[in-house]
Amino acid sequence: MWRAESTGDLTETKESAMRGLSRRFLLAFCASLALCYIFLLHSSVGSLPVAPSRERPHLDQEGRKAVVLDAFQHAWNGYSKYCFGRDTLHPVTNGCVDDFGGYGATAIDALSTAIIFGKEDVVVQILDFIATLDWTKVKGGARIQVFEVTIRHFAAIISAWDLLNGPFASMAQSSTLRQALYDQMVKLGDTLSCAFDTPSGIPRGWVDPKACESDLATSNTVAAAGTLILEFGRLSDITKDSKYVRLARRAEEYLLRPEPADSEPFPGLLGSTVDVSSGEILDSSGSWGASADSFYEYLLKAYIYDSEQYGSYLERWLVAADSTITSIGSHPYGHPEWTLLSTWNGEDVNHIMESLAWFAGGNFILGGMVTANQTLVDYGLSIADAAGAVYQKTKTGLGPEFVTWDPICHGSCKPDDALQIVGAQFRLRPEVLETWYYAYRATKNPKYRDWSWAAFEAILEYCRTDSGFSGIVNVNAADGGGKTDVQESFVFAEVMKYVYLTQLEDDHAPFHVQDSRTGVTNTWVFNTEAHPLKVVGKPV
Ligand SMILES: *[C@@H]1O[C@H](CO)[C@@H](O)[C@H](O)[C@H]1NC(C)=O
Repeated sequence: MWRAESTGDLTETKESAMRGLSRRFLLAFCASLALCYIFLLHSSVGSLPVAPSRERPHLDQEGRKAVVLDAFQHAWNGYSKYCFGRDTLHPVTNGCVDDFGGYGATAIDALSTAIIFGKEDVVVQILDFIATLDWTKVKGGARIQVFEVTIRHFAAIISAWDLLNGPFASMAQSSTLRQALYDQMVKLGDTLSCAFDTPSGIPRGWVDPKACESDLATSNTVAAAGTLILEFGRLSDITKDSKYVRLARRAEEYLLRPEPADSEPFPGLLGSTVDVSSGEILDSSGSWGASADSFYEYLLKAYIYDSEQYGSYLERWLVAADSTITSIGSHPYGHPEWTLLSTWNGEDVNHIMESLAWFAGGNFILGGMVTANQTLVDYGLSIADAAGAVYQKTKTGLGPEFVTWDPICHGSCKPDDALQIVGAQFRLRPEVLETWYYAYRATKNPKYRDWSWAAFEAILEYCRTDSGFSGIVNVNAADGGGKTDVQESFVFAEVMKYVYLTQLEDDHAPFHVQDSRTGVTNTWVFNTEAHPLKVVGKPV
């Protein structure tokens, strides 16, 4: 999913500069790959995956799950000790920042994982905290970022509501706390709804909750406009008030029927920015990564959430998936079994893939399972396998921010040069772990379970600090090249959850992703931050 850089400052000038910056960063990457090779760290990822040797003992599933629970408790203790109620812990220096409005992003984003991990004391601590929040009191600036607060805080609270009223009904039974959770969920839905007061109905990116006013930006990203249906839809279904889902659907309409025609350079695949006045798409450059990723993800997941309502969303997802197979995906030379997803720019594609885009493997697998299409499942698996090749050949066993590849051999054609790293940081991204979770669910092939586990052991080895987990500077340095001192809330919401669920058997988890080809359908769907939501339509 698309994530803004953290700055701790939510003022308008800063944020738009920041958003422009990350966009320009990606475009610059694509436009000048030659320069990337010269200026950025450059190292080869070879063709024969060999996991770095590690001293750790072999653990069975029960042992692995226990290690994840310990890691969660370790990071929770560090966050609670230094930053409880703040957004983000710097896990090396133990400082705190409020980079998501100051509502305690880490505490809230950890909630559904704490429930699934059975950590009732942590759950009660978070519910107590949520009950005290006033959404109109923003810290670290005057505005909140609608996309981030929707996928992290809002979805976490809705998910907790569903889980505590479903499979975890015996946990945290205080009716006061549950009523507070419900009230805060509705109030946050109302607060986020302030973003949609635009001529088109496309939400603006940032909202001042006190004044119920959005910023004055003229455009927003496709991801921000198209990652709303699950959260706003679920709130409407829980409250029986359709006003929330109406907002999300109105915004989505522009993305389902994009104008002008050249903003859809391949059928179903769009540009990345949308005009909030007209609803027109403003460009034709895109990818399955930043700025658009979860728009594609939610076309499929909206259908899983309510298959009776969102059949037309599935149709669009299938068109996008088909175009991706025919025009976007490609294989490094010598490796037809690995698929990587290019970025596009009008008619052209560039062979660069951002770490965020790895989620697409899981998304293809999920789409293939619910439509019983083996081509789509296999395609997703070839993305999962490419991720395995990348992770297993770095010195740390973790993956970089960007990879590039050459589909055709020029010159020496050494198979080891087929894939190249161009951004060596590991930012604790969950997308590869997410894709391996889906790959395991679809195949039950222990390879994906073991890859997920090997990556988590590498996180324990290179990223762990005295108070939590940090990103690292260089996945290809023997010591990780130093720590970035950032622990985003998705370490709790996604990294630990996907690793744990990949080891967890079905009978313990009604919310597991199901392979409907086996006759078991999906009664839950994960939002883009891995918060499970209860399906309302006929399960598929
Ligand atoms: C399965 O998906 C592929 C790729 O999108 C598509 O070409 C094919 O027609 C689909 N098969 C069926 C039976 O729908």
